[in-house]
Amino acid sequence: MKIIMLGPPGAGKGTQAKKISKKYDIPLISTGDILRKEIRERTKIGEKVKEYINDGKLAPDDIVIAIIKELLEKSDYKNGYVFDGFPRTLIQAFELDKLDVINIVLYINVPFKELVNRLSSRRNCPKCGKLYNLVFVPPKKKGICDICGTSLIHREDDKEEIVIKRINTYHEQTEPLINYYKKKKLLEEINGIGKIEEIFNNIENVLENLK
Ligand code: AP5
Repeated sequence: MKIIMLGPPGAGKGTQAKKISKKYDIPLISTGDILRKEIRERTKIGEKVKEYINDGKLAPDDIVIAIIKELLEKSDYKNGYVFDGFPRTLIQAFELDKLDVINIVLYINVPFKELVNRLSSRRNCPKCGKLYNLVFVPPKKKGICDICGTSLIHREDDKEEIVIKRINTYHEQTEPLINYYKKKKLLEEINGIGKIEEIFNNIENVLENLK
């Protein structure tokens, strides 16, 4: 299965993509994680994209497309994968069409007010990648990852004013993908409000019907 997770920042794409990857044993490809790693390692790409990400804008298409092209050419993804955060513009979607055939696009729909609440209380483990939320999914011990004991971080771009910019960027550049994939009959809308497990059950039903 080749799956795209679509939805605004904070919709729960990463949370659900990790569960899909585990249950169906397919790799997770998160462009956000890839770009943040480049920034942490201070690579040329990291230096180029840093300002965009920290300012709530998208990284340039040519950089992101080159990363995905290289990844799909190098590794064996014939059994499937789940994209979290790619494609994010029509240009990226056109390029992906040239590279591979996608089976389904899961569009997680969450009202905008909820997004700001979720992201301002999100915490991440920089080591194992586990996601927390101070309100909805708190760690057992304050500020510490349950899995690996590392101190949790608050992403630079999860500050409220940047979250609002990211949501605007989503409206302008990513939302057109909803219609693009609807026309291709690949879009499946998932209600993103509710318990994480309930949302995942709905996703499972959709994916089981696809087999
Ligand atoms: P990226 O890392 O992809 O960020 P995003 O799309 O803005 O998505 P988020 O990770 O913020 O949210 P999510 O939907 O994954 O929600 P999550 O599961 O974490 O990208 C970051 C930046 O990189 C972009 O702004 C851009 O600059 C750049 N970039 C990345 N890809 C790019 C591309 N293709 N092209 C150009 N630039 C690119 O959940 C959020 C919070 O809510 C968590 O705390 C979670 O615990 C909680 N939560 C989840 N589900 C629920 C629920 N059901 N109820 C209550 N809380 C919940």
